[in-house]
Amino acid sequence: MLVLAPMQGLTGLPFRKAFHRTFGDVFDYAVSPFISLTHGNLTLADKKIYDVQPENNVGCIPVVPQVLGSETQEFVDLTNRLHEIGYTEVNWNLGCPMPRVVRKVRGSGLLPYPERVGEVLEALTTKTEVGISAKMRLGYHSENEIFDLIPVLNQFPLANVTIHPRIGTELYSGELHLDCLRKVIPLLKHKVIFNGDINTLADFRKINNLFPEIQDFMIGRGAVADPLLPIKIRRNDDTCDNTLIVSFIQNLCEEIGKLRIPERSKSNKLKEYWGMMRNGVAKGCQDSEKPLYLSHFKEVEEAIIAILEKQN
Ligand SMILES: Cc1cc2nc3c(=O)[nH]c(=O)nc-3n(C[C@H](O)[C@H](O)[C@H](O)COP(=O)(O)O)c2cc1C
Repeated sequence: MLVLAPMQGLTGLPFRKAFHRTFGDVFDYAVSPFISLTHGNLTLADKKIYDVQPENNVGCIPVVPQVLGSETQEFVDLTNRLHEIGYTEVNWNLGCPMPRVVRKVRGSGLLPYPERVGEVLEALTTKTEVGISAKMRLGYHSENEIFDLIPVLNQFPLANVTIHPRIGTELYSGELHLDCLRKVIPLLKHKVIFNGDINTLADFRKINNLFPEIQDFMIGRGAVADPLLPIKIRRNDDTCDNTLIVSFIQNLCEEIGKLRIPERSKSNKLKEYWGMMRNGVAKGCQDSEKPLYLSHFKEVEEAIIAILEKQN
């Protein structure tokens, strides 16, 4: 299976819709950027739920909602409401490394506390009828933290466990701890989804060769920087129709254009994607920095398309 990674601000509805409209069913599903639990109930009318409301996800990559937090009652209530609107799986974020999240003992800040993880899983698996999956790192301070978590995770019927083999303090860079992951896989009784640094077909092949036991892969930055990468992986072929990228940009701009945000925020959003794409699918394109200096949304779009059309 190929899964689109949750990336706050990047793989929300506009990206998922534009991707699906351009490329079809290349990803099996996506995990949504996290919905943060608050003290007190989140209602389904809450803005935070907008991204996973089924009516907003028509014609989109199928999505599994992800939740960040460990407030047990609020988590159970939200999961039950997500079930009511049709979701059969909810993913728990045990990987977010941002200091303000970790300080509140959320995301990867929970990894040093196996008992707390167990309490939340106990509540979720007994008080909801939804499959629970987890997305985690190897630890927050040390990769060894996962070895105390495995017996806890093994007590519960989890749908799967996505592992980004880094620790929280490393954020998103540095070498992946593949040796540690190798020790973890046979100990964990759940299906493991690999996540981290798959930016090219060669990266995918390398991980596929190193871990033949893994069948499922989650891709984040690599798919934003090169939206053709998932197709290349599916076909096991690096050559691809680059004209699809122009259609993708047009679809993405259409979706960003619908957002109820100021014009400048739309331009900034598009520039954020382009900032990643110019180091991925548009690497080596002439004048690729130009759109970053423009301010009007339409101008940014046209400049990006002109660059991509010259490449084709
Ligand atoms: C800007 C940004 C936002 C992210 N937001 C989330 C999130 O909401 N939930 C989550 O579990 N992971 C989040 N992540 C982590 C990614 O899902 C993924 O684990 C990480 O980027 C490593 O995979 P990759 O190398 O394929 O990108 C985020 C990462 C980035 C760079």
